Amino acid sequence: MEYKKVVAERIKKCVDLDLETIERLIEIPPRAEMGDFAFPCFQLSKTMRKAPQMIAEQIKNEIDREGFEKVENAGPYLNFFLDKGVFVKSVLEKVLAEKDSYGSSNVGVGKNVVVEYSSPNIAKPFHVGHLFTTVIGNALYKIMKFEGYNCIGINHLGDWGTQFGKLIYAYKQGWADEEKLAKDPINELLRIYVKFHEEAEKNPALDDEARHHFKNLEEGKEEETALWNKFKDMSLKEFNKVYEMLGVKFDSYAGESFYSDKMESVIEEIDEKGLLVESQGAKVVMLDEYNMPPTIIKKADGASIYATRDLAAAFYRKKTYDFYKNIYVVGIDQSLHFKQVFTTIGLMGHEWSKDCVHVPFGLVRFADKKLSTRKGDVIFLEDLLKEAISKTLEIINEKNPSLENKEETAKKIGIGAVVFTYLKNTRERDIVFDWKEMLSFDGETGPYVQYTYARGKSILRKAGELNGEVNYSKLTTAEEFELAKLLDSFQSSILLAIDKYEPSVVTRHIIEIAKAFNKFYNSHNILNVEDEEVKLGRLKLVEATCQVISNGLNILGIETVEKM
Ligand code: ARG
Repeated sequence: MEYKKVVAERIKKCVDLDLETIERLIEIPPRAEMGDFAFPCFQLSKTMRKAPQMIAEQIKNEIDREGFEKVENAGPYLNFFLDKGVFVKSVLEKVLAEKDSYGSSNVGVGKNVVVEYSSPNIAKPFHVGHLFTTVIGNALYKIMKFEGYNCIGINHLGDWGTQFGKLIYAYKQGWADEEKLAKDPINELLRIYVKFHEEAEKNPALDDEARHHFKNLEEGKEEETALWNKFKDMSLKEFNKVYEMLGVKFDSYAGESFYSDKMESVIEEIDEKGLLVESQGAKVVMLDEYNMPPTIIKKADGASIYATRDLAAAFYRKKTYDFYKNIYVVGIDQSLHFKQVFTTIGLMGHEWSKDCVHVPFGLVRFADKKLSTRKGDVIFLEDLLKEAISKTLEIINEKNPSLENKEETAKKIGIGAVVFTYLKNTRERDIVFDWKEMLSFDGETGPYVQYTYARGKSILRKAGELNGEVNYSKLTTAEEFELAKLLDSFQSSILLAIDKYEPSVVTRHIIEIAKAFNKFYNSHNILNVEDEEVKLGRLKLVEATCQVISNGLNILGIETVEKM
């Protein structure tokens, strides 16, 4: 059990407050002389009708101190000082017994969670912006699964909409070069798409042509459908290369087109509930009351749009997965769209609209290039990941030329470095891509954490088999204790990450563990210690640290390497 929980349970025995509240109130004091955990008694003062100071005094006198060096009261606070040896023993034994499952739980058992992520657009580049959703979504999926939730990962492909009318028109004009299309489909499709926009600027009638072709596609006409399928197959082949490199999987690829025949019933329901209003020929749901522009349900020409498909998707997911949460990992620029969709569902009288969650993230900038698909000036993900690998290989060739499996290692470290960059900061913060910083072995980077892991593994290889009775009471230095505390609170950070839909909480925790490990490593001998008990204890601490780093990186979607 995490020590915070132990503290909470002890307190619970003395007061009339539920465990969850107690746990929430427990603080980690800013300074070591204030103990390892602190409990403020203000909240109890109302129900107990007593001054918080007196309550602290009372709990101090009653509480069971087993496993604690001391429990003190300081004004309205209770300060808990752990018995270091007992604590380190309990943490390390737990990590080493639970191994790969350390940090997991079954808090999510029986709850279905839909996680929608990645969702690139067919025939358009899979670019660095999509990496954000792919990486965050994949991490949330894994993190929640680790805590017992039944996750359903959905790739809501952008495979429907008027842009396909444009593409079909452009293709039918014979603008595409078949050879190029076979070799480099996305770029060629992008080129004719860009050409369409250029031509349409000169001749607006082309937009009507495009709409017409999309209408045919919606009606299932043969020619349009065949072309659409062709574009989709080509694109997915390209996207899958990236998913393979990243090790990202989905349970469903039901994209926008999947809902083309599922919208009518939703529109009917909106109408039945008296929410469907005419506005300039279009059908909309008014959201004035909520200070939002209307949700457009049907365009003037009768064609459905993005929001309608999202409404249909939400209803389908509710019916199919009976979700506990329906999570959308989509850029912050679509916040209004999701608010409109969720509000519309709420207006229709469905309580589960509150279980739909938009998890937004910021922008990615690379040098000073702006990312856009119209101008054809974008950075493809595949190229970016390949560059990360080759740059990492260069670094390895410089630092450790005799390393075996260099390519494989460069792949894990290079891709891991990119993924780590996306998961390191709170997700709404913009990212500026900086190769040098990202691939550095120092600082808060993927390679730094992976290097820490590999360093630990190398120590363990040198030590050989760890035999003998472990006397954990000998691990009482500040560095050992701090490291053990971070291993202990690993699960809290995972649960907090779930609460906030914020994988960076886990990333930061792993960074802290890596830092604490290096501090420990730099302050103490591990292999060259005379006292065999101390040596064995320290090696166990190394082993446990590696285990937790690996579990943490694993749920973030990053692989570890044994040597680097
Ligand atoms: N395909 C869209 C894009 O690339 C993102 C889709 C977001 N998901 C949704 N359910 N609307 O911008």
